[in-house]
Amino acid sequence: MARPGTQFVCTACGAVAPKWAGRCEACGAWNTLEAETPLPGAGARRPGRATGRGVEFVGLAGDTPLPERVALGIAEFDRVLGGGMVQSSAILVGGDPGIGKSTLLLQAAARLASAGKRVLYISGEESVAQIRLRAERLGLRGAAVSLAAATVLADILAALEAETDASLVVIDSIQTIWDETIESAPGTVAQVRSNAFALIRAAKSRGFALMLVGHVTKEGALAGPRVMEHMVDVVLHFEGDRGHQFRILRGAKNRYGATDEIGVFEMTGRGLAEVANPSALFLAERHGNVAGSAVFAGLEGSRPVLMEVQALLSSNPGGSARRSVIGWDSGRLSMLMAVLDSRCGVKLAGHDVYLNIAGGLRVSEPAADLAVAAALVSAATDVPTDPGTVFFGEIGLSGELRQVAQAELRLKEAAKLGFGRAVLPRRVAGGHRRLAAPEGMVLEEYGHLSDLVAATAGRVSSQGGGT
Ligand code: TYD
Ligand code: MG
Repeated sequence: MARPGTQFVCTACGAVAPKWAGRCEACGAWNTLEAETPLPGAGARRPGRATGRGVEFVGLAGDTPLPERVALGIAEFDRVLGGGMVQSSAILVGGDPGIGKSTLLLQAAARLASAGKRVLYISGEESVAQIRLRAERLGLRGAAVSLAAATVLADILAALEAETDASLVVIDSIQTIWDETIESAPGTVAQVRSNAFALIRAAKSRGFALMLVGHVTKEGALAGPRVMEHMVDVVLHFEGDRGHQFRILRGAKNRYGATDEIGVFEMTGRGLAEVANPSALFLAERHGNVAGSAVFAGLEGSRPVLMEVQALLSSNPGGSARRSVIGWDSGRLSMLMAVLDSRCGVKLAGHDVYLNIAGGLRVSEPAADLAVAAALVSAATDVPTDPGTVFFGEIGLSGELRQVAQAELRLKEAAKLGFGRAVLPRRVAGGHRRLAAPEGMVLEEYGHLSDLVAATAGRVSSQGGGT
C-alpha cells in the first residue's frame, strides 16, 4: 500500500496523478505511472504568502559576456553543440543502448584531456577494467582522463565539490545514479529527476560542463524523465541503425545554438570516426540504373547531404495495400501518392508501397517530396532515373512545385559529387533571385509534378521500354 502523500508520475510525459492507473490520462501511455514520495519539506509552506526577498529586474541591454565555449576537438560533435560546449552547461546525450554513447563520450573526454583540460569520467554502468579495455581498443590509453566507477550520488557530489578546475564531467548514465535518501530504485523518475538536478547544480556552481548519458525507451523517449529534458541546456540524440555503421548526433534542444545541425560518425573497429563528407558515404552503395531510386539533395542544418530515396511497388490486387516507410513520414507519403493519383494520373492503388531512405538516415524536410515522387514514378514506370541527376523541391496539394531553402548549397554539393543535372521547382520570372548554378550543371525546372511524370514518360518512349 502506498504511503500517504505518495503521488504517481507518468514516466512518458511527466504528468502527476493522485492514484495509480494502468494508463496515463494525460498522454494515454500504458503502464507508465510510477509512485513518487514527495520530498520532505515540500508543501509545508503555505501558498500565497510573500516571504521571499523579491527579485531585481534589469533592462534587455547590458554588458553580458558571451558564454565561454570549449571545443572538444571533434568537429562533428562541436558543430552540433554550436561550436563547442559552454562551460557550466548541462548536456544530455540520449540514445538506444549499444548505439555508441559511451564510446563517443569516452573519445570526447580523451580528446579534451589530451588538450590539457581536466576531465572526469564517472561510469555507473561499467567497471574501471571494462572502460580501460575500451580505451585500449580505441587507442586512448595515454589520455589523462580521471576515471571512476560510482553510482552513489552523495559520493559523486562530494568528489565534485572538491573540483576546482574540471572542464568536463561525464556521468554514464544518469539512470544508474542512486540517491540513498530517495525511496525508489535507480532509474525511476524520482531518482533521475532529483539526481540530475543535484548534478546540474554542482556543474553550475563549480563551472564545469556536465554530460549526462540517458537511455532511450523502446518508444524513443528519453527513458523515464522527460522532466530531465527541461533541466538541461542541451539535449542531443545519438541515433543510427544497428545494421549500419553510420551514427548521427542530432541536436533536439540547445540553449546556446541551433538545433538542426547533425554530426555524422562511422562506427569502426577502433571507435567512432568522423565523417566529414557524409554524401559520399550515403551514396556509396548506390547502384545506378535500378528503377525506383532517386538522389535527394537534402540539407541537415547548415550542411548539404545527398542521399538515396528508394521506392518499391509490388502488385497487391484486392488485398488492403501496405505502406511501409523507413526514414520518412508516412503521412507525407500518402499525400504524395494522392497527388500523383489525382493530379498526374499515376495510379498506385492496388500496389504495396515500400519507401526507404538508404543508409538509415531520417529525413524531415518537405524538400524531399520531389525525390520521393521521382522514385515512385520511376518504380511505377520501371524506368530508372538518370543516375547523374539530383532532385529537390516541395510538392503542394495541387501538384505544384514549391521553392525550398538553400538551393545553391544543394546544387554545389551535387556538383562536388559529380552530378551534372538537377531537377528542381521552376522559379517565377522576376519573383526569385537568380540562381547561381555551378558550372556545367544542367537545371531542369518544373512548375508542376505532372512535368516530371511527362518527362519520365518521354524517357519511356525514347527507350522503348516501361510498362
Ligand atoms: P557503447 O558505446 O557501449 O554503447 P552505449 O553506451 O550507447 O550503450 O557501444 C557499444 C557498441 O559499439 C558495441 O556493440 C560494440 C560497438 N563498438 C565498435 O564497433 N567499435 C568500437 O571500437 C567500440 C568501442 C564499440
Ligand atoms: Mg554505455
